[in-house]
Amino acid sequence: MVEPLRSFEEMYAAAGDDLAALPWANLKPFPPLVEWLDDRGAGVDGAALVIGSGLGDDAEELARRGFEVSAFDVSPTAIERTRERFPDSTVEYRVADLLDLPAEWRERFDLVVEIRTLQSLPIADRKAAATAIAGTVAPGGLLWLHALGREERSPRDTRPWPVTPQELAVLEAAGLRWESHREDLFDADLYEVAGTLRRVR
Ligand SMILES: C[S@@+](CC[C@H](N)C(=O)[O-])C[C@H]1O[C@@H](n2cnc3c(N)ncnc32)[C@H](O)[C@@H]1O
Repeated sequence: MVEPLRSFEEMYAAAGDDLAALPWANLKPFPPLVEWLDDRGAGVDGAALVIGSGLGDDAEELARRGFEVSAFDVSPTAIERTRERFPDSTVEYRVADLLDLPAEWRERFDLVVEIRTLQSLPIADRKAAATAIAGTVAPGGLLWLHALGREERSPRDTRPWPVTPQELAVLEAAGLRWESHREDLFDADLYEVAGTLRRVR
C-alpha cells in the first residue's frame, strides 16, 4: 500500500525536537545563498521576504546582514520552532499560505528568497504559487531562486516534484526577467536551477 503523503505540518510536528530528522533541514543558512550574499555585498538591501521559511536559518542570515526581513511558512509548528530557536530575532515571522498571501506584501520586497518551496507544492498549485511569489517582488527588486528542476512534464511520484521550465516561465509572464540563471546536473535527468530574476514591469 502506498503511504499517504504527509503534510508539512505533520512532518514538523512528528519531528518534535529532532529537527535534524527533517530531510531539508540543514539548521544553517543555505550555502549558495550565503555565497551570493557575500559576492553581492552591499549591492542589495532593504526589505526581504523568505518564502516557506522552514526553521528560519535563511531569514536570520538576511537579518544579520541588515535586511528588514519578513518570513512565512504554512506550518504553524515550523514557525513556533523558529521562534524558539531565535528568541531575539528581528524577523517578522508569520504563518501564511503562499496561495493566500497578505495584500500588503504585494510588490513590497527588494529581495525575495525562494528555496525549495515551489518543488514541494502539488503540480496543480504551481502556476498560482509562482505568480504569488513573483507578485511580492517590488519594481526593480530581485527574486533569488533555488529549485530542483527537470525537463519532462510528468512529475515523479514522490515529493519533491521538480519544477519544469514551463512552470518557471510563469515568473517571466508575471513581469520578472532572469538576470542570472544556471542549471547544474544533479542526478540523471534532474538538475538544480539557481538564479535571480528582476521585476522589470
Ligand atoms: C522543502 S521545505 C524547504 C524549507 C526551506 N525553504 C529550506 O530550504 O530549508 C518546504 C517548505 O515550504 C513550506 N510550505 C509548503 N507549502 C507551503 C505553502 N503553501 N505556503 C507556505 N509555505 C509552504 C513547508 O512547510 C516547508 O517549510
